[in-house]
Amino acid sequence: MARIIGGLGTTHVPSIGNAIAKGLQKDPYWRPFFSGFDYVHGWLAREKPDVAVVFYNDHGLNFFLDKLPTFAIGAAKEYRNEDEGWGLPVSKSAAGIPELSWHIIEKLVGDEFDVTMCQDMLVDHAVTIPMALMWPGPAAWPVKIVPIAINTVQHPLPSLARCLRLGRSVGRAIESYDADLKVLIVGTGGLSHQLDGERAGFINREFDTLCLDKLTVDPTALTQYSIVDFVEQAGAQGVEFLNWMAMRGALTGRTQELHRNYHIPISNTAAATVVLENRPLPQRKAA
Ligand SMILES: [Fe+2]
Repeated sequence: MARIIGGLGTTHVPSIGNAIAKGLQKDPYWRPFFSGFDYVHGWLAREKPDVAVVFYNDHGLNFFLDKLPTFAIGAAKEYRNEDEGWGLPVSKSAAGIPELSWHIIEKLVGDEFDVTMCQDMLVDHAVTIPMALMWPGPAAWPVKIVPIAINTVQHPLPSLARCLRLGRSVGRAIESYDADLKVLIVGTGGLSHQLDGERAGFINREFDTLCLDKLTVDPTALTQYSIVDFVEQAGAQGVEFLNWMAMRGALTGRTQELHRNYHIPISNTAAATVVLENRPLPQRKAA
């Protein structure tokens, strides 16, 4: 059966892609953020995942406001990027694993998550930047991906509880997939930030810390926040944390935080990188 090795949460701000393209990783402004990935590189080299299931939000490359599914899953052989603006170079493509995508889709619909199925899907910086951070350099990425897009853009948004349950359903689906695969779960976006309006530039370190603390040990506690509450505490775009909730939900075993890096600001965003271990629960003895 497929095995979930752990979860990674990371910010996906477009300016990170520009910093990579310009080789600014050791620049004094960028070093505190990029150095947070030194641990990640060692962990991934040891764990060697075969697949990454990536919870993210699309910013208008594949879906726009005219048609915006709440949950959408890729079931393609390949996921291309295109020119998104932002000055970002077009990224290399990511390989897909449609057999696993369809298995997850079957299980999600069985769990009454009516997802949009995408056999052709572009992925934007919310997928490609985390991939480039995890596996830097020009070589092809060493994993196949299953991209799962959550609407964090056009209200009404799904609740934190709904995204946690979505992740749990995805986790159960992965663990019932009959293949010897090691699977990494990724959640991208956040943390606190607001791009426009009177609160443009808003960051809330205290609330980010609370979210990261609860994420590992008690994610259900965060479901007390409505989307409006969450926007108030984390900013209009801070709701990208929904992707982190889904990532955490997919960790079905004993979860422990192995690594955390939190740095303010990257662009106008509180940047965070977290690695969570997922250890299998002990098997119950037959009575
Ligand atoms: Fe974003």
